Parts: sequence; structure tokens; C-alpha cells
Amino acid sequence: MIKFLKKFLIIRRIKDGLFATRYFNYKYFQILRWMIYSKEDTNYTYDLTKKNLDELYKLLETIFNVNYSKVKDYSEELLNNIKIKDYLKNKIEVSDFKNFADTEIKYSRRIGWYIIARIIKPKLIVETGVDKGMGSVILSEALIKNEKEGFKGKYYGTDINPDAGYLFDDIFLKKGKIIYGDSIESLKKIDEPIDLFINDSDHSSKYEANEYKTIINKLSKNSVILGDNSHSTDELLKFSIEYGRNFILFRERPKNHWYPGAGIGISFIKR
Ligand SMILES: C[S@@+](CC[C@H](N)C(=O)[O-])C[C@H]1O[C@@H](n2cnc3c(N)ncnc32)[C@H](O)[C@@H]1O
Repeated sequence: MIKFLKKFLIIRRIKDGLFATRYFNYKYFQILRWMIYSKEDTNYTYDLTKKNLDELYKLLETIFNVNYSKVKDYSEELLNNIKIKDYLKNKIEVSDFKNFADTEIKYSRRIGWYIIARIIKPKLIVETGVDKGMGSVILSEALIKNEKEGFKGKYYGTDINPDAGYLFDDIFLKKGKIIYGDSIESLKKIDEPIDLFINDSDHSSKYEANEYKTIINKLSKNSVILGDNSHSTDELLKFSIEYGRNFILFRERPKNHWYPGAGIGISFIKR
């Protein structure tokens, strides 16, 4: 009898296990499709699901006290901007790194960065870690739009890799610059108030914490900090607790991509 029950239990658990695999199997198809159609090997780009975009809009509405429809307008302003997509596509196609980037332009969580830059109209944006420069371009595009509305601002990016930032060119150069070298050293030299800070360089917890420590006395009164590491470390959360700032994490849900998504840690002062 016991033998029979044991055999029954094993069969049931195999059935249960097969059921559980249904939650993961489609990922293998996504990996296969990505291997065939994408060229990216790091810093993946993808669209966010419609539900995830709505989650982002509602979250930003709550944090910044701006209507959902206004937040959505800012997002669509970027998503429907064919000129900027064509610009990025052409830049990738003629670059030496074209075999490592996709020409179908997808912004992932950077849509959130753009919307925030449009809402808060920063005078200075600092982004550590620029890689190809997609963030640099869309943040500068937000500054160009802000300036048309009477709010002037500039952008500084930092990167240790001298080849980084090849997308940041043309009209975008008028909005700022990339400072090459170790990010901590570059941050030490900035002597203007930072309104929007984006941490996206060395993704170790220690380095991330060090960046926040370096900029604490350079932040403006209503500064916003975005952590690109906040889905995997608690450094921005701890920093926000220590300095009496609010903190909310937006989690990405990529559309048709195997990558589980990163996030935007948002550290802010209540307005
Ligand atoms: C994830 S990528 C940045 C992605 C970029 N923000 C974007 O929007 O696509 C990380 C970048 O950080 C740079 N990096 C790594 N360690 C660094 C350091 N210590 N100082 C400055 N940049 C660093 C890398 O060279 C790489 O380009």
C-alpha cells in the first residue's frame, strides 16, 4: 500500500513539475527569437507592455502630481517621434558598433526618464554610464522640448569607456557633453546643482552607494534621483531613508523579450 502511494506521489509530482514548466517554456522561444533577430549582448532594449506603461503613467501621476493624460502625452511625444527614431537608426547603421545594436528603436524604461525630465524641467541632468548614448539622446531631446517651453537645461553624461556615447551627436551636442573617465572622479568636479541624477554606470552596490555619497551636497532642493540598479540593490532605498527622501520602485515588464526587466528607483522630495 505504502509502495503504491509513493509511486502515485512521484507520478503526481512529475505532472505538477510539467505544469510548472509552462510558466517558463515560452522564455526559451523568446531567447531563440532574440538570438536570431537581435544583435544585442548587453544593455537590452525592448518595448514595455501596454499595462506596464499605464502602471508607469499612474505612478508618475502620483509622485509628481501631474495628470495621467499629461504624463501619457509626454510619453507619446517620445514614442511617436519618428525623427528621433530615424536619427538613432541611422547613427547605429553607420557606426563601428552596428553589429552590437538593434536598429528597431525601443526605449524600455528610458521612457520614464524622458517623462520625468519633461515634468520637472531640470536645469541640470547628470547621467552616469552612457553606453551607446540612447539615454543621453532622449534626455537631451527632453531638454530641447523644455527649452521651447521656456525652460533651459543642460545634460552631462559620464563614462569610463572612451568609445561610449556614439549616438550623442548633432543637435544633441548643443545640450551638453559626455565627461570621460571614472564616474566618481567626474562627479566630484561638477559644481552646479543637480536637478535630475541618473545612476547607470558600474552596477556594483558599493560603487552605486559611492555615487550617491559623492553627489549628496550637489543636489538641488527638489532633486530627483533615478537608480537603474534599484531592482537588484537597496542602495537608493537606504540613501532615501537616511536623507529623508521618498522612494518608489517602478518595475519593468518587457514585451516579447526574455529579459525579466529592470526598473527605475525614484528618490524624490515631496512637492
Ligand atoms: C548599462 S550601461 C549605461 C546605459 C545607458 N545609461 C543607456 O541609457 O543606455 C553602463 C555604462 O557604464 C559605464 N561604466 C562602467 N563603470 C564605470 C565607471 N566606473 N565610471 C564611468 N562609467 C562606467 C560602462 O562603460 C557602460 O557604458
